[in-house]
Amino acid sequence: MMELARRVAEAADLVTVALDELLPRAEGPESRLTEAMRYAALSEGKRLRTFFALETGRMFDLDERSVLRAACALECIHAYSLVHDDLPCMDDDDLRRGRPTVHKAYDEMTAVLAGDALQTVAFEILAHPDTHPDGAVRAELVTKLAVASGARGMVGGQMIDMLGVRDDLGGVARMQRLKTGALIACAFELPLVLAHAQEAQRHALMAFAHDVGLAYQIVDDLLDAEGTAESMGKAVGKDVSKGKANFVTLLGVDAARERLGLLKTQTKSHLDPFGPRADFLRASVDFVLERRQ
Ligand code: IPE
Ligand code: IPE
Ligand code: MG
Ligand code: MG
Ligand code: MG
Repeated sequence: MMELARRVAEAADLVTVALDELLPRAEGPESRLTEAMRYAALSEGKRLRTFFALETGRMFDLDERSVLRAACALECIHAYSLVHDDLPCMDDDDLRRGRPTVHKAYDEMTAVLAGDALQTVAFEILAHPDTHPDGAVRAELVTKLAVASGARGMVGGQMIDMLGVRDDLGGVARMQRLKTGALIACAFELPLVLAHAQEAQRHALMAFAHDVGLAYQIVDDLLDAEGTAESMGKAVGKDVSKGKANFVTLLGVDAARERLGLLKTQTKSHLDPFGPRADFLRASVDFVLERRQ
């Protein structure tokens, strides 16, 4: 679907331009920090979370500027999570988005600090009145992103991943829900807050978010097993070489693909209540499943 590819690229451009404006620039020695933040956040990611947020915003006819600020906050948290994930004390990776990781391009202390500051700027963006005139709405956005990012979300999932305490599918699925699922779900939750959406709509989109996040991770695990560093822009084969249990190491490639096939129909079906307004979100499921990077 050409139109979908165009909308994904458009979302990526929009968020990169907006981030360029929102991320701090500094004079003096701390410019090393702000440059490293920009290096991480403005590099060419797929911007999938942004695409999900903007499409959800369109379904509810939201003001695009508000949704875009929410997407910027999400991308800042995501970028911070990748900077820290790549550190020698975590996955120890040298390549990210086709470029040297932040601790390689700068150094470890700068990478830690750039991650820290990317995290706080995310909340600064959400809490600013330009995001929404109502302080109560802004507080809800901040809370949702904080929960999805912290011990009950991404950071909790990273802890489970680092400890390696998972040897069955249930354990892998729980880790995935926290590590990547929570932040992907937030791409739907933040616009839902802005839209004051009804409970049934929230429920349907959260079910979609859950399944699309799961499918995303199964594809990430398949690409770790079968992709190339060149096309992925990051090292591959890491999960197998480190003996990490994931969907593919546990199920095998064929069974993982079969599971994805089943998940495809189920994921799309959650969008039934939205009718044709959800066509781009529906089509994005194929995009997620067929991605090669
Ligand atoms: C990579 O995320 C890590 C996972 C959560 C699987 P993305 O695949 O969204 O990475 P970018 O943002 O496109 O680089
Ligand atoms: C990292 O997961 C997800 C984060 C929360 C940062 P991975 O370690 O599998 O991500 P990649 O493969 O390095 O992108
Ligand atoms: Mg990792
Ligand atoms: Mg990693
Ligand atoms: Mg991975």
